[in-house]
This record gives sequence, structure tokens and C-alpha cells, in this order.
Amino acid sequence: MERLDKAFSSCKIYSRSEITKIIRQKRVLVNGVIVTKPDFKVDTKVDEIRVDGEVVSFKKFSYIMLNKPNGVVSSTDDKREKTVLDILPFEYKREGLFPVGRLDKDTVGLVILTDDGVSAHKRLSPKTHAEKVYYFETADAITPQTVIEIEGGVLLKDGYFTKPCKIKLLSSVSGEITLTEGKYHEIKRIFGAKGNRITFLERVAFAGIFLDKNLKRGECRYLTQEEEELFTI
Ligand code: URA
Repeated sequence: MERLDKAFSSCKIYSRSEITKIIRQKRVLVNGVIVTKPDFKVDTKVDEIRVDGEVVSFKKFSYIMLNKPNGVVSSTDDKREKTVLDILPFEYKREGLFPVGRLDKDTVGLVILTDDGVSAHKRLSPKTHAEKVYYFETADAITPQTVIEIEGGVLLKDGYFTKPCKIKLLSSVSGEITLTEGKYHEIKRIFGAKGNRITFLERVAFAGIFLDKNLKRGECRYLTQEEEELFTI
């Protein structure tokens, strides 16, 4: 058991003065009952604590799945553009959150946000070979020969030779590509090197975690226990 104000300060959502304020303003419910004393004793493992009706997460780290919409950048702050952090609903915001890996501004789909730097670093490390699956559409038809060539590795304009990957064609102008590396604009540059052009790109899976089809663009949810385990192993 610990003091309510102490519990709040460990969850990194509110500043000290905000914590006192929200408690005094009767905005905090513990197990459905309004609590107005900052020294009220709570057990964050069993008690349900809500602020303005929203359940507060007291876990050490947050793991969030976001369905990134078009036009939003995958960085923590940007002077001109809207970022993935800007579009997070207030109740998900926490100090130290960042997107794991980068999607282009016009790429949509799965972005994981966390404040667990160690696990994020592991998942992004080239040594881990975490699989990233993207649904793509192209301007021109893709031949079976091009699929074989891309799967074997492609020489990009900057001299980089891409790692082998897998492509499953869904039509002559769409499919799924699975990469185990994440170079800047990689998929666009791969298809560009083959004289084609990506017209739509959506990340559908990362490290065995699949984009939840119930999430609309711009919506998010916490990772489930199983997804969290896939991310933190
Ligand atoms: N490859 C790209 O070209 N863009 C992305 O956003 C991700 C992979």
C-alpha cells in the first residue's frame, strides 16, 4: 500500500501540483469512490483508480499500439508537423514515450509507442531480425521475375544491397512484403530501383505483433499481455 499522491507521481502522467489539484477537485475515484485525501492508501496492483472516468495505468512501462494515419510523422517532436505523440489521447500520454522505429509521413498502420528503451532497442537491433510486414500497392504491375529479384536483395542507388526479404503478391499491383531490416524509405527505394513506384504503404505487423483491425486510423490501445511478451522478450 502507498499514498495516492505517491502512486500518481510514479506513473509519470501528472506533475506534483497537478496531482494535488486533481485529487482536491474530486476527479479521482478509487474503486468507484471519490477520494479527496492525497495520503489515502492504495494498492495499484489491485485498486482501480480513475481520473475523469479514465482508468490510470500504474505499470512501470507503457506499450501502446497506434494505427498511424497518413500525414503524421513518427518522431517525438517536430516544429511543423503533427507527430504520433501529438495525436495520442491524453490518458495514454506519459513522460518518455517514443515510437519504436520510423514510418514515413505517408505510411500508415502499426506503430508501437513505449517508454521502455531497453526492449525497444532490442526489437530494433539488426541482430534481432524482427520481422516487419507491410501491405503495399504499386503504380505499375509487378512481374514474377521482379519478385524473385527483390526477394534476393536489391542494389539501391546509395550502393546498399538490401537483405533478402519475402513478397506475397495479392494482385499484379499489390502484396505483402516482409523485411528483417529497416533502412530509410527502404520499400519505396526497393521498388524504385526496379522502375516501379509505391502508391500505398501500410505496416501490418512488427516482431510478431499484428495491427488490430478494430483500430481505426489514429486510434490506439495498450498491447495485450501476449503482445507485451512478444515485444519485451
Ligand atoms: N519503407 C518505406 O519506404 N517507408 C516506410 O515508411 C517503411 C518502410
